Amino acid sequence: MAKDNKAFGQGMPEIAAYAESVFNPIDPVLDFVRRKSAEGELPAIQVGPMDGLHLEILSRLLNPRRVIEVGTLGGYSAICLARGMVSGGVIHTFEKNEKHAALASANIAWAKEQGEFRGVEVTVHVGAAIDMLPKVEPEGPFDLVFIDADKPGYPDYLDWAAKTLRVGGAVLGDNTFAWGQVHRTAELAGNELKMVGSLDRFNRELAAHPRFRSTILPTAEGLTVGVKVR
Ligand SMILES: C[S@@+](CC[C@H](N)C(=O)[O-])C[C@H]1O[C@@H](n2cnc3c(N)ncnc32)[C@H](O)[C@@H]1O
Repeated sequence: MAKDNKAFGQGMPEIAAYAESVFNPIDPVLDFVRRKSAEGELPAIQVGPMDGLHLEILSRLLNPRRVIEVGTLGGYSAICLARGMVSGGVIHTFEKNEKHAALASANIAWAKEQGEFRGVEVTVHVGAAIDMLPKVEPEGPFDLVFIDADKPGYPDYLDWAAKTLRVGGAVLGDNTFAWGQVHRTAELAGNELKMVGSLDRFNRELAAHPRFRSTILPTAEGLTVGVKVR
């Protein structure tokens, strides 16, 4: 699976170059976080620059107060989401890997010093998200849940989001094209089927969910978006 291809508009490189040059998704803060993550030898699996911008814009549209992120890595997408939040908001981000969480905390602290977050509190929780999400449940209902961690966990994270989002709140799931494989689960087996099949299940369960209206946005990686409507 081509996990390293994060280019926006990958079908047409000229369009991708056009989009990045016109919409300019990288700024000094995000550039720093990307560089620090690379220097710290984190895997280069944070959202792509245009995908980060999409998250920021979606967050700004929703203007959330209470946000959950599953899968922190170096804190890149948390910063994008926080930019759209109301001042005084809270973001809880969950990361299983201690090294990733430590670097994310350092990046977030640095970004704060640069004037990011404007009163938004970010807490990085270390551990398996599914075990730790119940801890923050009393703070709900939540306005936005962004899922970008272990792929087999996506259906469980969706169940949690369906339970804890407010009506009008949104769930976002990244990588939902499953590296261009999501339509061909019938041909897969083993671990590939486990990964891709979970993303397929997430998409199908959200699409058919009686409490959500949803779509899949054709970003480079596929971004599934569901709004809780009842
Ligand atoms: C794709 S990266 C997240 C990228 C991040 N959202 C960004 O764009 O900046 C996925 C992260 O999820 C973490 N992860 C994997 N399984 C997890 C789990 N069960 N609970 C919490 N985090 C997990 C990985 O260690 C990795 O850092």
